[in-house]
Amino acid sequence: MLLRGMGHNRTFCLTTTTLKTLLTTAKSRLNDPLEAEVLLAHVLGVDRSHLYAHSSDPVDPETATTLHRLIKQRRLGAPIAHLVGHREFYGRPFKVSPDVLIPRPETEGVIDQANALDLSDHAKVLDVGTGSGCIGLTLALEHPGWTVCVSDNSPEALAICQANREFHHLTNVAIHHGDLLEPMHGQTFDLIVANLPYVAPGDPHLTEGDLPAEPQNALVAEHNGLALIERLIDQAPHHLIRPGHLIVEHGHDQQTQIISQLQQHGFSHVTGHADLAGIPRLVVASIWH
Ligand SMILES: C[S@@+](CC[C@H](N)C(=O)[O-])C[C@H]1O[C@@H](n2cnc3c(N)ncnc32)[C@H](O)[C@@H]1O
Repeated sequence: MLLRGMGHNRTFCLTTTTLKTLLTTAKSRLNDPLEAEVLLAHVLGVDRSHLYAHSSDPVDPETATTLHRLIKQRRLGAPIAHLVGHREFYGRPFKVSPDVLIPRPETEGVIDQANALDLSDHAKVLDVGTGSGCIGLTLALEHPGWTVCVSDNSPEALAICQANREFHHLTNVAIHHGDLLEPMHGQTFDLIVANLPYVAPGDPHLTEGDLPAEPQNALVAEHNGLALIERLIDQAPHHLIRPGHLIVEHGHDQQTQIISQLQQHGFSHVTGHADLAGIPRLVVASIWH
């Protein structure tokens, strides 16, 4: 906005920041222009499309101050998902905090594979190491007739999962606390899904991207990252109905070992699958006897 006046023979100018100028500045301060859009839309409580549809709207100084504070945090390494408080998974928002793993797009493959199993409308399903609940709660939303149990050994993660269960108004999900399948004593399921920690201690990837800001107990496992998956494969046959199914997400170099371990534990029809980037990412296994 430019105001011109001639009071006391002087011309005066007042400039107001617009959405467009604020967004341009924000983009110049971040590596990824999309992040500037996400942060500004978050501060304003609008969709990203609003930023362009209303680009000439004036912006109040508090909005600019809040945005610049978030940009500073982002430049210091805070994940975007922590700054906005949520992340989309399978087309739905999930609350996240530094207590849970930020849901990853590659994990959506677990949902695709579970859907492809064509289980009955009344299947009983368990998500082990649920974190934010993104896998288990998505399955419960996709299949309202399923009974879904989710479990984790982190009470802080389960508090986030509970908030997500409430946000999505789910009534077919039970939350359990404990080590792997221990809390499910005596219970059996048609399907167990798990995205457990699978990064080896000291793996250089742990210092990259969002990983330094995420909980180590959601990322790292002993035995080259395989300790928890191996324990799960050991326990799972005792908690599966026949026929029963197990879907496990894993690291890029772990598929062969996991398939062989599943076969040793009585699983058949074991198939390995890659993610959208072509990286081996999960296995689906069935047990019949
Ligand atoms: C890789 S994160 C996955 C979270 C979520 N399932 C997802 O896909 O975004 C692994 C989760 O397993 C949990 N976890 C780690 N060790 C566990 C154990 N021994 N028993 C149960 N859960 C465990 C962590 O707290 C964390 O929430």
